[in-house]
Amino acid sequence: MEIRPYEPAHLDDAAGVLATAHERRAAELPTLPGAFSAAEQTRVVIGAFAGRPSCTGYSAFRDGRLIGFLLATRHLPAPAHPSSAYVMPRSTWTPTQAWAIGDDCDPRAVFEALYSAVASEAVSAGYLNHQIEVNVEDPAESWLLDLGYTRSSVYAALPVAGALPAEDRAGAVGQTEIRRARAGDEEFVVAVGELEARHHQTSPVFRPDLSKDYREAALDSAADLVNADDRMAFLAFTRGDFVGGILSNAMGGGRPLLRPAASLYIGSTAVSPAHRGCGIGQALVRALLLAARSEGFEHAVLNYAPANASGRRFWQKMGFEPLMTVFQRRVDPRIAWGAS
Ligand SMILES: CC(C)(COP(=O)(O)OP(=O)(O)OC[C@H]1O[C@@H](n2cnc3c(N)ncnc32)[C@H](O)[C@@H]1OP(=O)(O)O)[C@@H](O)C(=O)NCCC(=O)NCCS
Repeated sequence: MEIRPYEPAHLDDAAGVLATAHERRAAELPTLPGAFSAAEQTRVVIGAFAGRPSCTGYSAFRDGRLIGFLLATRHLPAPAHPSSAYVMPRSTWTPTQAWAIGDDCDPRAVFEALYSAVASEAVSAGYLNHQIEVNVEDPAESWLLDLGYTRSSVYAALPVAGALPAEDRAGAVGQTEIRRARAGDEEFVVAVGELEARHHQTSPVFRPDLSKDYREAALDSAADLVNADDRMAFLAFTRGDFVGGILSNAMGGGRPLLRPAASLYIGSTAVSPAHRGCGIGQALVRALLLAARSEGFEHAVLNYAPANASGRRFWQKMGFEPLMTVFQRRVDPRIAWGAS
């Protein structure tokens, strides 16, 4: 096997390998978009990813034939920016369109050789956090665990046309009004994100809540959310007091191989601690999914931290099926001492 830096001349062969791999993944997970079983489609998304300014990667060859590739972009968010709680500063990112291994080889050996080449360069440049995305039940899950990765988040989906959660569990939400957010509700919309972030900061999740200095930006995006057609939020009020909400937007294009047809992405979802377990979360999900259905969405997608037991169990209860896992590895920073 020969490992060479990825170059645009590899695109056609890489597209063929990814299309075959995706066809296999989509046979097991029918919610995945079927279009990427065709090399003309995978060619477009690999080309777009490889063309990102910070993207580097490697291809594996045997007897002159490409048998695998792995690309990664590099990310340097400001250390206190809220997004850096998800994509840590000095991270590499490899979504599912950025790697694939052919069928007729030892896939684990090829994957390890490719990752080793990409990681060697990344670590030398100080990128010590590595993120790779893998569909559920893919054999690569166990390879990544052996390489020191952990599961940092799970993406799950639900067909909107299917059965919806029941409206009201035994009348428990009778005192609660659920309604769509509108202009003037921006503070409540921000409060949903804050409630969720505060929960994720606690044990055992320990995701730092970095939102404090970015409240103005959160209010701006809340204003977009209540006004735009492709976004919606629902809020819950018990006897007039705000008690929780759910935020959503049309799913973006960063993960094309994950994105089911006509997908609504559910962002922050939270109920205030004193009102949890009364059916309000379920009523919010139902209201959002009914609206999504009438606006032509076919799927709802979301992600949760597996370490967040309340979110994990809640979304499973709501019928969401895991599709993809984000694996994250933090290389021991003392590697730099050893090298010096
Ligand atoms: C997750 C959350 C929004 C659920 O809202 P909620 O109002 O407490 O949930 P509901 O009372 O509507 O529960 C709906 C169903 O989910 C189940 N469920 C909810 N939380 C659960 C938990 N922690 N463990 C097990 N099951 C849970 C309920 O038992 C219920 O099922 P049942 O009718 O069979 O009993 C709420 O607990 C919360 O705000 N958590 C902190 C923030 C968070 O984790 N958000 C999700 C981020 S991914």
